[in-house]
Amino acid sequence: MRYAAITGWGMSVPERVLTNADLEKMVDTSDEWILSRTGIRERRMVGPDDSTTSLSVAAATQALERSGITASDLDLIVVATCTPDQFLVSEACLVQAELGGTAAAFDLGAACAGFVYALSTATQFIQAGLYDRVLVIGADTLTRFVDYSDRSTCILFGDGAGAVVLEATNEPRGTLSTVLGAHGEGYKHLYIPGWGAFVPESAGIFPEYRPFLQMNGREVFRFAVTAMGDAAVEAVERAGLEFGDIDMLIPHQANLRIIDAAARRLDLSMDKVWVNLDKYGNTSAASIPIALFEAEQAGKIKDGDNLVFVAFGGGLAWAASVIRWGGVPKHSDQPHVSETPVDEAVATAIGAERSS
Ligand SMILES: CC(C)(COP(=O)(O)OP(=O)(O)OC[C@H]1O[C@@H](n2cnc3c(N)ncnc32)[C@H](O)[C@@H]1OP(=O)(O)O)[C@@H](O)C(=O)NCCC(=O)NCCS
Repeated sequence: MRYAAITGWGMSVPERVLTNADLEKMVDTSDEWILSRTGIRERRMVGPDDSTTSLSVAAATQALERSGITASDLDLIVVATCTPDQFLVSEACLVQAELGGTAAAFDLGAACAGFVYALSTATQFIQAGLYDRVLVIGADTLTRFVDYSDRSTCILFGDGAGAVVLEATNEPRGTLSTVLGAHGEGYKHLYIPGWGAFVPESAGIFPEYRPFLQMNGREVFRFAVTAMGDAAVEAVERAGLEFGDIDMLIPHQANLRIIDAAARRLDLSMDKVWVNLDKYGNTSAASIPIALFEAEQAGKIKDGDNLVFVAFGGGLAWAASVIRWGGVPKHSDQPHVSETPVDEAVATAIGAERSS
């Protein structure tokens, strides 16, 4: 059986910090309201020279260094994003232009659930035997679409990118189970109208038009609490594990109350939940790989740990995976897949055929 172990990880956020105190000067809100309703203290915001590409490249460079491979070793690059710098070409090709190599490259859109969707997609390529090394990036710059006169949305979002390198292995590491889903009919609860090829005439389009993210916070909250909890529980069950086997929950960082509800569904105390939304807010597809990076850096994840990634977002989409951490030695020239079991199976089959 082939698995897709996470052998490298990296993150990048812009330098510019937007605190709750800054927002108090922009809209009718307060640090107390934001903190108590969301858990967010500050978020990072792209400056004029930052982009989804620059953040992605910085995170990917770290992930590649950690895994000990280079961009030319990659077979595939998948970027989960809903804020690509361009629609033609893909964000993945823009990233490859900076990193080098000739890997297959494409984007995947599942908003804030995008990283787990992309991880699952990349894992399928490895498990099918088509590819050995894949770079998966979750990156978004949603602050470029936030209306900073709308207090119900401008407090939530920040920018960033996170990346992981997946490599083939025989060890049961990486994604052990995945649950994906979407309720398309709810898309208007969280979307950016006019951000795409179709723009209704009623939008009154003109060249400097910049669409804003629109959200029905209460509906999204209601959806998120159910979807995150259900998906996380199902992922654990599909992995054949008990709640007690879970060492760390690494959830999408949108709202502390939503994270707390998901943790309770898995019967996990908060010391087994990685939370960093106080520093970054909701970084969309980047939030899970950024949280993973920081949890690992803090020494909270060890070889063989069972992690749960769970996310929800625009779509309305949800995604959860159980991940088994580590287990793969530092990179050698060959992917860490023993050819022996396959060779033996083939030899046995050929032998049986010949003797029949
Ligand atoms: C947005 C969210 C924080 C709002 O919290 P809430 O407890 O649901 O608050 P409500 O929307 O019920 O609003 C309560 C009141 O606070 C007000 N309010 C909204 N934003 C505010 C702000 N930034 N500061 C102060 N008051 C605010 C509302 O206007 C409302 O006032 P009213 O009762 O006079 O109408 C919460 O609904 C949420 O997190 N939803 C999920 C959003 C999300 O995660 N989106 C990204 C998905 S990937």
